[in-house]
Amino acid sequence: MNRLEGKVALITGGNSGIGLATAKEFHAQGAMVAITGRDKEALERVRAELGERTLAISADVTRISDIEHAITTTQATFGKLDVLFANAGIARMEPIEQVTEESFDRSMDVNVKGVFFTIQKALPFLNEGASIILNGSVNGHVGYPGVSVYSATKAAIHSLARTLSSELSDRKIRVNAITIGPITTPFFDKLGASSQEIQGFTQQLEQRLLLKRFGNPEEIAKVALFLATMDSSFVVGTELVADGGLLVNTI
Ligand SMILES: NC(=O)c1ccc[n+]([C@@H]2O[C@H](COP(=O)([O-])OP(=O)(O)OC[C@H]3O[C@@H](n4cnc5c(N)ncnc54)[C@H](OP(=O)(O)O)[C@@H]3O)[C@@H](O)[C@H]2O)c1
Repeated sequence: MNRLEGKVALITGGNSGIGLATAKEFHAQGAMVAITGRDKEALERVRAELGERTLAISADVTRISDIEHAITTTQATFGKLDVLFANAGIARMEPIEQVTEESFDRSMDVNVKGVFFTIQKALPFLNEGASIILNGSVNGHVGYPGVSVYSATKAAIHSLARTLSSELSDRKIRVNAITIGPITTPFFDKLGASSQEIQGFTQQLEQRLLLKRFGNPEEIAKVALFLATMDSSFVVGTELVADGGLLVNTI
């Protein structure tokens, strides 16, 4: 069934991991899909794989001019914007003593400023009844050590889902976040920790998960699809938890 037939979706960070799986799902459901990211080769690979109804735009979410370019290009190509998945994000594994001003600013710039201004710049083009989906995390709720900055950025995302849904309700734009648990993507290779540290950390996490396994990006894409369609028409300003049972086994 083509549940997004005729719809236009913009996915930041759509060239890898969760964003890529969501781009494939939305495209398979009939949507016109624009993806962004910085890695031009990865963007081109996805564009070639998905084929028609796909736009790949090189854009860094920390640059307002790039965000504006991505949004206006999507609008110019597909004529409208129905779904925005503000997904691009990064994490560094650093105890507080090791966090530098540069790494703090980088995480805040990508994960908070990037999301905020992606939404702000998309607003003039979003249809009444559009869906904005934010990429949140279990880290926004729990206190795992070594990821204080990342966790703070995701707590900010959950807050944005609540406040912006109020601000945008007169336009019938729904804003929701997905509270995501551990998902197998290149994300963990980019934490800046040694492979040994990452292995230890991921094994510990696996034990905390009720399902005793990491999720697949496709399992998050299905949640994003629900939030993108009118199947979720009464879901607004909230968080949908897709975490393999991590939170209930932690809090
Ligand atoms: N994997 C997990 O366990 C997990 C759990 C909870 C939440 N999340 C969240 O899920 C989101 C996607 O992560 P992932 O797991 O799919 O990891 P990923 O495969 O590393 O994807 C990250 C995406 O963000 C893009 N990105 C990073 N910095 C960017 C920038 N400055 N401008 C534009 N795009 C940028 C990357 O593209 P380029 O490198 O080409 O720029 C890439 O497409 C993140 O927000 C992450 O916090 C992940």
